[in-house]
Amino acid sequence: MDPGTAKRLDGGLPPSLTLQPIGFLRTRQQVKFQAGHQPESAMEARNELELLSGHGYEQALQDLAGMDRVWLLWWFHRNDTWRPLVLPPRGPARRRGVFATRSPHRPSPLGLTCVTLLGIAGRRLLLGPCDLVDGTPVFDVKPYIAAHDAFPDARAGWIDTMEAELREPVRFTVILSATAMTQRQWLQEKWQIDFTPRLIELLSRDPTPHRTRRIRRRNPKQFDIGCGAWRAVFTVTGETVDVIALEPAYPLTFLQRPGYEDVPDRDAQLAFRLQWPPEPPPTRQP
Ligand SMILES: C[S@@+](CC[C@H](N)C(=O)[O-])C[C@H]1O[C@@H](n2cnc3c(N)ncnc32)[C@H](O)[C@@H]1O
Repeated sequence: MDPGTAKRLDGGLPPSLTLQPIGFLRTRQQVKFQAGHQPESAMEARNELELLSGHGYEQALQDLAGMDRVWLLWWFHRNDTWRPLVLPPRGPARRRGVFATRSPHRPSPLGLTCVTLLGIAGRRLLLGPCDLVDGTPVFDVKPYIAAHDAFPDARAGWIDTMEAELREPVRFTVILSATAMTQRQWLQEKWQIDFTPRLIELLSRDPTPHRTRRIRRRNPKQFDIGCGAWRAVFTVTGETVDVIALEPAYPLTFLQRPGYEDVPDRDAQLAFRLQWPPEPPPTRQP
């Protein structure tokens, strides 16, 4: 180490910043899968940001009327982990550096969303579609200024490539069996989990065995595909993919092992196994 180089006493870490929410988002989107990956017109159209009282925020909102859109800077408060590489919800199953994505699993759990401003009433901002869940703490509101914030011709690397691929027509029709539909509904209602949009997207493009798409042949007739902590079993006939059933991706021994409590969706996977016990392996003939 160069003895002339000054080192911070705190070990080189930059100072931390404590943020207080200025308000909380109120929406009918109670759980994460309802919130969408980014705001879309098809989503819940009327949401509210209610700013806290007693801070002079009514005044701070002065002159915001007349802006079509605002940026919200907010806290992914329902997450407590982050990962350097994340699996984007769309496109090929390939992990990307978290800073090249809008993943909620970030070292500084800050979300950034541009929303339509429909009106202002006292301390309440009436907002259009947004990708936040109910109760999300919001740290700041800033006007969206197209002259500074919009760069429609800017390249977006792997995202442009993926979007171009997704525009290609899909080749396969994916049909969920009655069992798979019941399992999907159970996961949505009891555990707020829904991996079927990604499942359908992947299978409708190419259901053939593939290592990174996590598709394997299970037996002469059936295949399975991994989607995060879950799996689906399916068959392929011509250009139709029949999803027979959903199932947890982790083996029971792994789910029950002490020290593995952080396995994604662990409790939901254990409950799923009780609801739909896996079939025992076929007994071998002597
Ligand atoms: C992909 S992120 C994008 C957020 C923001 N537009 C951005 O780019 O930073 C949107 C997802 O965050 C998740 N989400 C929404 N509110 C959250 C919260 N308060 N805590 C954790 N995750 C949240 C939902 O699953 C939603 O689909």
